[in-house]
Amino acid sequence: TSHRPLHGKHILVTAGPTHEPIDPVRYIANRSSGRQGFAIAAAAAESGAQVTLVAGPVTLETPQGVTRINVETARQMQAAVEQALPADIAIMVAAVADWRAADQAEQKIKKKGDAPAPLELSENPDILAGLASHDQRPGLLIGFAAETENIIAHAEAKLARKGCDWIIANDVSGDVMGGMSNSVHIVRSDGVESLDTLPKEQVARLLVERIADHVAQN
Ligand code: C5P
Repeated sequence: TSHRPLHGKHILVTAGPTHEPIDPVRYIANRSSGRQGFAIAAAAAESGAQVTLVAGPVTLETPQGVTRINVETARQMQAAVEQALPADIAIMVAAVADWRAADQAEQKIKKKGDAPAPLELSENPDILAGLASHDQRPGLLIGFAAETENIIAHAEAKLARKGCDWIIANDVSGDVMGGMSNSVHIVRSDGVESLDTLPKEQVARLLVERIADHVAQN
């Protein structure tokens, strides 16, 4: 196989958290550091792919050779993903906030006596599920699933529910969120491959190798 097995392929990667504003100074978010997604974008670029990285708010440096689009919210991430199509392969690593504040206050919300201001939520779009049914669906669509228990069973259910091709099931029972290492299982309809706990860069390289093998066989 060649040194740049993904040459000529456009790979779309989402990474990081999303921030959903409540008012000018507050937001809803999660603990995603963006490290695993950025490492995957870097590994894909090293393998010769043209890489578009749609990144939520993180402080990481853009990997070499990667086109980065910064977004803040889930809805902005979805728009950027759709703008970036067509793509041969999409890897949705972002930890998208499931909910956003139903209304964004224009001014900082003030404390009112004893009762906290109620926070109404709306559901965010599922970007991965949306891509699965898109008329420009990438030929290989990969999702992540952060789980703390029954990891593979939950991932298999998610594979079917989301309509993607592979799920990278991610054991986040330790300090994975924000940490340097990751413990993943590659869950496909034809079987599961469990990788050792490895630095996120190495998880990324192994995943990109599997993708290159798949591309070579299809
Ligand atoms: O349903 P759950 O959040 O566990 O699914 C995780 C997978 O779905 C990840 O690949 C994540 O990037 C993607 N996702 C998404 N849009 C959402 C929620 C999750 O693309 N709103």
